[in-house]
This record gives sequence, C-alpha cells and structure tokens, in this order.
Amino acid sequence: STGTNFQSLPQLPTGENMEKVKSMVDSMLLDDAAVQKMMSVLESEMKKGMSKDESIRKTSSCQMENTYVTQLLDGTEEGDYLALDLGGTNFRVLLVKFRQGKAESISRNYNLTKEQLHGPCEGVFDHLARSIGKFLQEENITNRLPLGFTFSFPMTQNALNCGVLVTWTKSFKCPDGVGQDAVKMLEDAIAKIGGINVDIVAVLNDTTGTLAAGSYLDHQCEIGMILGTGSNAAYMEYLTHMEKWEGPIDSPKQQVAIDIEWGAFGDNGSLDWLKTDYDIEVDLHSNHVHSFTFEKLFSGMYIGEIVRLCLLHLQKDGLIFKGGVSDKFSNRWIFTASHVSVIEEDNLKGTSEKLDGVLKELDMQNMVSESDKDVIKYTCAVVSLRAAQIIGAATAVLLNHISKPEVTVAIDGSLYKYHPKLHDLLMGVISKLSPSTKCKLILAEDGSGRGAGFVAAVATRLQKQH
Ligand code: GLC
Repeated sequence: STGTNFQSLPQLPTGENMEKVKSMVDSMLLDDAAVQKMMSVLESEMKKGMSKDESIRKTSSCQMENTYVTQLLDGTEEGDYLALDLGGTNFRVLLVKFRQGKAESISRNYNLTKEQLHGPCEGVFDHLARSIGKFLQEENITNRLPLGFTFSFPMTQNALNCGVLVTWTKSFKCPDGVGQDAVKMLEDAIAKIGGINVDIVAVLNDTTGTLAAGSYLDHQCEIGMILGTGSNAAYMEYLTHMEKWEGPIDSPKQQVAIDIEWGAFGDNGSLDWLKTDYDIEVDLHSNHVHSFTFEKLFSGMYIGEIVRLCLLHLQKDGLIFKGGVSDKFSNRWIFTASHVSVIEEDNLKGTSEKLDGVLKELDMQNMVSESDKDVIKYTCAVVSLRAAQIIGAATAVLLNHISKPEVTVAIDGSLYKYHPKLHDLLMGVISKLSPSTKCKLILAEDGSGRGAGFVAAVATRLQKQH
C-alpha cells in the first residue's frame, strides 16, 4: 500500500454527490508511485546540494547548509546561557541554566507587530535588542552571558557565529536584510541601545536547535524537524558524505549538523508534478511567490488555506454549501492550521463540537447542512493525511540515508504539537517507508529556543577546551 492508513479517514454520507466529493478530495492524496518518486527526487536533491561541484550544487533546491555545529551536548556543560528564538509564531528570549548536566530554562515572549514583520529589518533587530534588555532586567541578570541566536531562516554560514540571510520566509517580509549577517545586525542593534552585556557565540536555524534539544532528551536523536509555521529539518551528517566540506577531516566518524532547508525543496520545478491547483493558488497569494514549494504543501501557515480552497472548489461544482459561504469564509488565510487541528479532534471523537465552534467563528453556523459538516471534516482529514504522507516520505529519506537500526527524530512546532492525529499518521507512513529503522518521533518542547542555549553551551565548552 501507499504507506498510508486510509482507514483513518472518516466516513462520508452515501449518495452520488458524495461520491464526487470523495473522488475530488481524495485526488489530493499521493499514491505509491508518487510517494516513491518524491522520495527519490528528495534524495537526489540532497545529494546534489552537498556536491563539491558548484555547478551541480546550483541545480539543487536543497541548500544543505553547513551549520558548523559539529558536536552536541556531552553532559559536562555548566553555567547560564541566553537564547533567542526568532522566526516562528512568537519571538522569545530564554535563560538556559546547566547544573550538573541538567538543563532548566525559563522564557518570555516579546512578540513582533505586523508592521515590524513587513518594515525595514532594523526595526526587527531593534525589537530583539530591546527585548533582551527587558529580559535581563526582569530576570535580574547583570553578568555577561554567552548567547545563542535561533534565526529560523535560510542562512549561508561561514562560522558558528556568522549567518548571512539568504531570504526572508513565512510571515517575514522586510524589504532589506538579505545578504547581511544576522549576528552583525543584532550586535549593531545591541550596541545602539547600550548596557546589554552579552556575547553572541552562535547563530543557528530552529531545526539545528531542535536537533540539539532532541539529543539532550534522547541520545539516539539524529534529526531535528520543525513542523510549524514553516517546515524544515536538520540531521547529523558524516563529513565524508558532505562532499562540499572544505575543512580537514580527522576521523571518518566526524559529523556536522546539516540544515537541509527542505522548505524550498521543489523550487527548481522538481516537484511541479505533485502540486494540485490548490497548491498553485496558495503559492500565488503567499508572501513569497514561487518559492518554498515544499513547506507550502502542508505547513502551518498554509494547510488551512488548502482546505478552504478545496471546499470552495466543491461549492463551485454545486456539491456543498448550497446556502453559500459567509463573507468571513471568503477571505484568504481565514481558515487556519488551528482550525484543522480542532476539527481533527472531532474526527477522532466522532463528534462535531469543535467544528460547530469554528463555524460560529466564521459566521457559517446557519449556512451549512449536516452533510456539509461531514465534508469539512473529511477534507481536513484528507489534507492532514496528505501532509503526513509528504512529511513521512521525507523523513523516511533521511532515515534510509542515515541507515542506523534506531533513530529518534525530535520535532518542534505548532503543527506537530497541536494536531491530534499527525504523530500517529506519520508513524504509520514512516514505518512502511523505512522498515529497517526503528524510528521514534519525540516532541522537543521549545526545542527551537532551548536548543540555542544548548548550542551556546557546547560552543563555550569547546572554546574552553582549545
Ligand atoms: C522556513 C525557513 C527555515 C526554517 C523553517 C521552519 O522554511 O526557511 O530556515 O527552519 O521555516 O521554521
């Protein structure tokens, strides 16, 4: 079978219209051949992205960035570290304390405004600097601390503490900042304010942070993944496989965390065959058109809109919503990942309680029939299953590449955390597509933020050793 569990789909009522609904909605799912094709395309894109030959590298849509994180925690880390987490739903400042190998953390949110997300990036970095200042004050911290900075965007790195922004993604759309070092921009903002006593020792992607946080929870963790607003993964790669690695290789066992940047997988056209009309429309109206193909197929920022577009299509064909749709529901992006998640709770329980709440919120409560409700629930289930097929297939590519008997994948992000079925759906897909690895998926709560503190701690330990 396709490595999917179609039995997880709820029942639709019977009738000719419903048959049509079912076939239209189901056509979004991947069959065996599509899953296999996606897997082999990803594998080849990853390989090309690691090539020594720049002309080959350039053809790949997977950046396969060297993160300069060559070691994870070894249990001897001590002391206090600051961590920043920028790029997902919230901006956070954390204090991570290591005492005898155990890590504890506290965090505060300092959210950015929509204006800041779309304005000159100086505004963003000024906000970060001011928030660090507030945090230090609120927590009464006066000594100079090492800081790890999770900056969840594609970067070109040439050191652990240098990350040049390749492009903004997700909800960030500043007109500038591309081509600049995120560490330098933060340092400049900090210097402008003055009186903030920190030492930025590392800049990292959220997937790298999640990988570090995962390895603290489970020493078999080799993959860090974000299933949130956007999506991406990082994994521990052998330097001997990382053809483009330029430094010395002292031992065949030496590894480095690679940030795949799979959000952009397919941007070279290699996934065009997989896209539905809904995916094409989602992209056309997104913040960064014609880019980030892969994550737009399922991640939190887009999954609700895929459901909404599919439902509108069914309506246009006269199959549902005979009473029309509300003005609210006509708005793009109004239907969110959190709606999908709560409706999937209904699917698990066989109720419509949560759906009724969602319909009320969208002014649709008096416009839908019972069978419309079944179709909404069914569509959420199918779009979620498709997400699991795609993410599961990509995970299986990594597991097959790593080729170890047991591997743990640490996951952070709102989509994974709040979707009530995603974990089980993924396990079903992965176990079929990667049968020779015993795989565990674990939630690395706040891994993206805590991981920045962990990487800062490792960096500090390595500095002391040298
Ligand atoms: C986007 C970013 C990537 C990040 C991911 C998850 O894909 O480009 O760097 O890891 O979102 O936040």
